[in-house]
This record gives sequence, C-alpha cells and structure tokens, in this order.
Amino acid sequence: GRIERYPRIRVASVDELSVGDTVEFEYPLDGSGTFLTRLSEAANGGVGPGDGIVAFSNLCTHMGCAVSGNVESDRGVAGPCPCHYTTFDLAKGGLVIMGPATTDLPQVRLDVEDGDVFATGMAGLVHGRRNNLA
Ligand code: FES
Repeated sequence: GRIERYPRIRVASVDELSVGDTVEFEYPLDGSGTFLTRLSEAANGGVGPGDGIVAFSNLCTHMGCAVSGNVESDRGVAGPCPCHYTTFDLAKGGLVIMGPATTDLPQVRLDVEDGDVFATGMAGLVHGRRNNLA
C-alpha cells in the first residue's frame, strides 16, 4: 500500500509494560515488522516511566535479518543479530555497537496519551526500502 504520511497507531498500554516486555507490531505499513520494549534506563526518544519505552524496526540494517528475537531490555540492546552478529544500542537511537551493519536501527517515534503508547513516525530507512511509506 501507499500512504502519504505516517499513521498514528496505538501500540500498548503503559501500565501493562514492565521492564523487559517486548511487543511486536507492524509499522508504518502492514508487513513492516517493528518491536516495542521497555528498557531499565532512559533512552533517546524514550517515552513513559523513566523515558524507557522505545520502538524500532525489526530488520537488521545489514542484510535484513530479524533482530527482535534477540532484544535484551535490561542491557538496552537488540542483537547480536542471528545472521552476522550486529548489535544495536536501543538507548542511543539504535546506534551500531558492533558488527558489520553501518546504519543505525530505524527508530519508531512514540508518544503517550491517556496511558497508551502511540507510534507516530519513524526515523531512518527500513532495510530494503527506498521509502518507509511505499
Ligand atoms: Fe544482521 Fe547481517 S543481517 S548482521
């Protein structure tokens, strides 16, 4: 599908997110895998209690393997990627900590309204796309 601008979608309830919980969802398009998690530390772009709730693309920026199965919220990382071991810093905007990827993990912009976390946009290009919205 093609959309003109980032949608605003409800992802989770703040009260139901404990540190270490991970919620998988699709954003901004159906089929674009993303995950939301609550870190034990404040994060760039984090929302909610302690600014620890963050969300990112599920696709490693190296060659597109799924990293959401390797999220360690207590350490604030995604990875090592199962394919070539890139690890991303979820408290620092998806920065590559180590491994062959050269681009940060795209971060979903979030906000909180009435106790719910909403996805509102995305910073960075999802692996394999020339446009996140097309
Ligand atoms: Fe993730 Fe290569 S696809 S490190």
